[in-house]
Formats: sequence, C-alpha cells, structure tokens
Amino acid sequence: KMHKIAVIGGDGIGPEVIEESIRIVDAAGKKHGAQFDWQRLPWSSENYKKTGHMVPPGGWELLQQHDAIFFGAVGSPDVPETVTVHGLLLPMRRKFDQYVNLRPAYLYEGVPSPLKDKAPGSIDFLVFRENTEGEYAPIGGRIYEGMDADTAVQVSLFTRRGCDRILRAAFEAARKRKKILTSITKSNALTYGLGLWDDVANAVAKDYPDVKLRHLLVDAAAMDFVRKPETFDVVVASNLFGDILTDLSAMVTGSVGLASSANINPEKKFPSMFEPVHGSAPDIAGKGIANPLAAVLSSALMLDHLREESCAAAIRQAVAQVLKEGKTMPPDLGGKSKTREVADAVLAAL
Ligand code: NAI
Ligand code: MG
Repeated sequence: KMHKIAVIGGDGIGPEVIEESIRIVDAAGKKHGAQFDWQRLPWSSENYKKTGHMVPPGGWELLQQHDAIFFGAVGSPDVPETVTVHGLLLPMRRKFDQYVNLRPAYLYEGVPSPLKDKAPGSIDFLVFRENTEGEYAPIGGRIYEGMDADTAVQVSLFTRRGCDRILRAAFEAARKRKKILTSITKSNALTYGLGLWDDVANAVAKDYPDVKLRHLLVDAAAMDFVRKPETFDVVVASNLFGDILTDLSAMVTGSVGLASSANINPEKKFPSMFEPVHGSAPDIAGKGIANPLAAVLSSALMLDHLREESCAAAIRQAVAQVLKEGKTMPPDLGGKSKTREVADAVLAAL
C-alpha cells in the first residue's frame, strides 16, 4: 500500500534526523511490502525569514491531504518561539485535534542509564500527555505593557471532554498492558482545573474496573520517575506535566536522543503527526552528530498508526540490535559515531 506522508524537517537537527529515518522506513517498506510517497515541505525558520510565513497560505489544507505528518523540530535562536513553536507545532496539534501525545519510555539493552542498577527492559512505560488544552491553551496576555510593573495572565483550560478523551485513551492502553494507570496532577494546589481532571479520572475508572487507577502528584512523580521508574505501566498527565516528565523519562532511559513520540487524532478525522521528543538542538546542529534514533523510533510509531506493524517491528528490532551491539553509538550515548553512521548501522541490521 502507498502511504502519503508530509515531511517537515524544520530547523537545526530536525532535517538531519528525519532524512536518515526516511531511508530506514523506505528500506523496511521494501522488505515488508509498504510504499511511501514523501512530500517534503521546506517550512522552517529559514523559510520564514525569506517568505514571512511559517505555514504558507493553504498549508494546513495541504497537510490534511496526507495520511500522516513526519516532523523534525522547529525553533531557532534568531526567530521568536511565538513564530516557530506557536506558528506551526502547537497549532498543528490543536487544528488536527491530535489530543493524544504518546511518548514511550523504554530502557534498551546496551544503553547506559544514569540509574545504574536498572536492568534492560525494567523501565517500560507509556506516557499519555494531553496535547490540545491544559496549561498550553493559548489564553492570556500581557497587560500594562511598557509600564513599571508588567503583568501577565496565562490561563489553563480544562474541559470535561478534553480530560475524558485523554483518560479513556490511557485506560484503553493500560487494559492492553499491565493494567496499572497512574494519573499525574497537582490537584492539591491547582484545585480547579486539575480537580476537574481528578473527578473525570474517577468517573472514567468505573468503565475500566480491570485497570488499577493511581493518583500521583507531579512533584512526587518527578521523584518516582528516578527512584522507581519500573513501577509505572501507563501514565497520563496534562500538557505541561507530560511535557516535562517525558524529558525526565527520556534521560532515565539513556538520552533524549532516543525518545520518540506520536501526536495522534484517534478518530482519524485529521492526520496524526510523528516527531522525536527533542527540539532543534541548535548547539549541535550542522555537525552531523545528532542521534537519529529518536526520529527513527518515531517513524516506527507512525508505521504502527498506518497499520504497517511488521515494518514498525522490524525497525524497532534493528534499533535494539544496534544499541545492544554498542559498536555504533552516537555521542549522547557515550560513543563517537556520526548521525549517518548510526543510521547505516540500523539499515545493516534491517
Ligand atoms: P533540545 O531538545 O533541542 O536540546 C536539549 C539538549 O539535548 C541539547 O543539549 C541538545 O544538544 C541535546 N539533544 C537534543 N536532541 C538530541 C539528539 N537527537 N542527539 C543528541 N543530542 C540531542 O531542546 P532546547 O535546547 O531546549 O530547544 C532548542 C529549540 O528547539 C528551541 O527553539 C525550542 O523551542 C525548540 N523545541 C522544539 C520542539 C519541537 O519542535 N517539537 C521540542 C522541543 C524544543
Ligand atoms: Mg518538550
């Protein structure tokens, strides 16, 4: 089957890791009977400086004609985040109602974790981050701009519908795994929004009597992600907390260079988007040393979504083999291999 994929490499290391992933997906597809039609879109900070658009006119409609979006990262030191992150990434998640941000945490064999006593596979959980509202709702403003005391208002938005659908997605995933769901909030302090979240969690739990629901406050969760990450199975959290905690889970499983993510519209009314958790990493951009595996593992999540499960499994297997052998490790995992060499090793393992 031919899948139409929109590709936005974006800024910094985004295009570097995305192009390597495309080579790998094409190779897996060749073996497993899947074909991909990649439409590369040059939307980036550089393009913005030339055209004045982060997304050109008609851009959203163009994206909508694709089966999925494969995304690198945006963000550049010389273009405001209000243009890049707020002009492309965050509106995409909302416009295409990609309310599930799935971020797996898995400790691969051969990967050094800062938690030295953890066995490979002992850290193995899924984070379901709410992706369309919460603390990242674009509501608020700066008032008294220019006067002595600037004032800013930033409003979090929690709706019953928004909480219900992310919680249900997490419960469904937990049901297929070890049946333990941890809901992470700060509802002791943020009693309105996250109080509603807790109420909805307890209500939805009644439809999943086979799943054990645990409530955990985000500060305690930060400790437990380090102290006993093996106790998590499926985790569900609001937009901000899910964002922060998944950088932490990336580090305890080795590196943000391995952390993959999917931004899913489960109803498939709109295209879903697949991207590494990391950003454009301006500090290492252009050096050819970025770890491509976060993007490669994100492409495997895309293949799952496109029902090309055997391609996805082959890619994960190849990545696991490269990490286990440990001969071609990028700098963030303690090695000296370049982006291209790591991708070549995955291709060879395929
Ligand atoms: P970052 O994730 O780009 O980098 C954080 C640190 O991790 C840096 O030291 C970087 O070198 C390292 N790193 C990241 N990815 C790596 C990889 N694949 N291999 C090896 N090392 C890697 O986060 P930062 O520096 O906070 O943000 C840089 C820009 O990216 C900002 O403009 C930010 O807004 C944007 N950003 C964009 C995201 C997106 O488009 N999804 C997500 C996160 C940040
Ligand atoms: Mg983040």
